[in-house]
Amino acid sequence: MGCGRQWSSKIWWLTVVANIMFFLNGNAKGTVMGTNLPSAPGVKLSVEDHQVVLQNGIVNVTLSAPDGLVTKISYNGLDNLLEVGNEDDDRGYWDVVWTKSKTLDYLKGASYKVEVENENQVEISFTKKWDASLNGKVVPLNVDKRFVMLRGSAGFYTYAVLEHAPGMPDLDIPEARVVFKLQHDKFHYMAVSDVKQRLMPQPVDRQTGQVLDFPEAVLLTKPVDPIFKGEVDDKYFYAGDNFDNRVYGWVCSDPTIGFWMITPSNEFRNGGPFKQDLTTHVGPTVLNMFVSTHYAGDELALQFASGETWKKVFGPVFVYLNSDVKAKENPSLLWQDAKQRMLKEVEAWPYTFPSSKDFFKPNQRGTVGGQLQVLDKFTNKAPVPGINAYVGLAAPGAEGSWQRESKGYQFWTKTDAKGNFVIKGIIPGKYSLYASVPGFIGDFKHSQDVTITPGSNVNLGNLVYKPPRNGPTLWEIGVPDRTTGEFFVPEPEPTLKVHVFTTGDGESGTYDDKFRQYGLWKRYNDLYPTSDLVYTVGVSNHTKDWFYAQVQRCKDKQTCIGTTWQIVFNLQNLITSGNYTLQLALASASFAELQVRFNDRNAAPLFTGGLIGRDNAVARHGTHGLYWLFSIGVPSNLLVKGKNTIFLTQARNSDQFRGFMYDYIRFEAPAAP
Ligand SMILES: *[C@@H]1O[C@H](CO)[C@@H](O)[C@H](O)[C@H]1NC(C)=O
Ligand SMILES: *[C@@H]1O[C@H](CO)[C@@H](O)[C@H](O)[C@H]1NC(C)=O
Ligand SMILES: *[C@@H]1O[C@H](CO)[C@@H](O)[C@H](O)[C@H]1NC(C)=O
Repeated sequence: MGCGRQWSSKIWWLTVVANIMFFLNGNAKGTVMGTNLPSAPGVKLSVEDHQVVLQNGIVNVTLSAPDGLVTKISYNGLDNLLEVGNEDDDRGYWDVVWTKSKTLDYLKGASYKVEVENENQVEISFTKKWDASLNGKVVPLNVDKRFVMLRGSAGFYTYAVLEHAPGMPDLDIPEARVVFKLQHDKFHYMAVSDVKQRLMPQPVDRQTGQVLDFPEAVLLTKPVDPIFKGEVDDKYFYAGDNFDNRVYGWVCSDPTIGFWMITPSNEFRNGGPFKQDLTTHVGPTVLNMFVSTHYAGDELALQFASGETWKKVFGPVFVYLNSDVKAKENPSLLWQDAKQRMLKEVEAWPYTFPSSKDFFKPNQRGTVGGQLQVLDKFTNKAPVPGINAYVGLAAPGAEGSWQRESKGYQFWTKTDAKGNFVIKGIIPGKYSLYASVPGFIGDFKHSQDVTITPGSNVNLGNLVYKPPRNGPTLWEIGVPDRTTGEFFVPEPEPTLKVHVFTTGDGESGTYDDKFRQYGLWKRYNDLYPTSDLVYTVGVSNHTKDWFYAQVQRCKDKQTCIGTTWQIVFNLQNLITSGNYTLQLALASASFAELQVRFNDRNAAPLFTGGLIGRDNAVARHGTHGLYWLFSIGVPSNLLVKGKNTIFLTQARNSDQFRGFMYDYIRFEAPAAP
């Protein structure tokens, strides 16, 4: 066989790949649905005794039947990508945490049905119907768990329809997710973002290590590979905001295989775009969190009253597999490819292929668009564009209610440089339209709710957000962006080894996620050993002098006392007509009480927020949990001409994780009469 032949066969192969890509895109857009693709083998289903196997010539996926657990994934010469040392029911599965039983429920099917079986697609449904005889034993939900394999597609999709129906008892679900556990001696390289990629410790390293102040954080003292000695491992280091959690996974170098979790849409996740969640961690474990209380608190659980009617489709999400011999030297190549594939899946959303009637197809969905402007009357006379704002539809509610909403679908997008936005693929229903604009405090809500019908295209025109404001700014601390990211983040304790992330080609990456380190909260004691933080307006600099979290002063992890921070400022004139305003935005609160006093630290507080927050963002190394805004009226008789002091007290004592993160503080003069 001559060279020419080889080249032409290579070209032939490239054409096949191009066709497959076209097929996937075209298929997803609904233009060539049903087209046969002779070049890629058809999808096959084999039904065996207690299992079914889906094959498409690229990947084989074995599911237990009727349970619907993924027991085996074969790809690129590796018989099973999943951890063969685990039992069949501990490899690839859906689960929910069900508070009443304090257990996991694996949503195992009671029966299964082949929904689609042709050369282009196989789809299987594993279902379970709840009835009263199961009361207390099985989570009160009707379950329809789906697995889909498409022709020419390197991977498979999974989604689930969960239903709480009349006759079912009350229910509280703090967590719903998909889990895959990969072979621990094969997959060593993890990638979560362009920079956050690394060789990971082994699961056994956590067992031989030393548990720190909470079980998730383990100091690696005797790792198999000594390069990890002295590092802390904690799955929350790899958490991210949901709007970023669209692709992550692991690479095996022999044979080269990438295993990727791709989430094409956030519509089914709870808590809106800023909700943070786990991604992947030592195990190697790959998650897709659909519902969780992480970085938010119990109120984010799915909660149903007895008999309440609810149904929701979670997914489809895509498990994508890839390989490239060059990845032996540079595993990041597979990340690059997975990222491209993620973008294609996002573009193809909403998918046309899911056969469940509960999944809304593209032509059953609607669109809403408009332009968001901001009128902050003491900074600009005319409205300015709301740039880079998150605009979204979520269940009707009060301003900002979407961050605590878990039952419905949410549809979010980002505005462009003119404040324009278009949200496509919206499931029919009645929603409120919300927005959060960087640089401005508070939450926007459009005065009228929006009703979406199939095919509708709603143009809302100009929307003007008037953020909370009572008078001109006298001073401000920080940037209104719902996070504490711009404030002072300390280095971890010098005894801990910090992993330095490098980019895929081995170059040292700039890593701006300084928060994802263990024990930063403890540095407050080191930096402020005897007296609390004092910030002097006009002298202090928030990037250096405002600690990222108002934590407690601790003798040990259980014996802590609340702290009082001071803001010292000068008033040149005292205006006595009307109140001053302290605009105080928090990026996080955990079992804490904020008290505000002016000029007398022993006075009764002018303001108290009461006991608020359960987001635990300090312990989870986040820059934020839930957002809180307090507009506090300050009568002028509490102020003096000249030097004034604000006392910000966290009034609850206890274990070390109580406290706040501030987003932004602004002091406003009374408006001119
Ligand atoms: C899938 O299984 C078939 C046997 O049924 C086997 O011939 C094929 O090589 C397997 N494919 C992969 C990707 O492992
Ligand atoms: C505050 O500190 C940062 C970091 O050192 C510096 O870049 C910035 O210029 C300072 N700002 C002011 C107003 O001095
Ligand atoms: C001024 O602030 C006080 C204390 O927050 C509040 O009780 C009062 O209603 C405010 N007055 C006006 C006119 O807003």
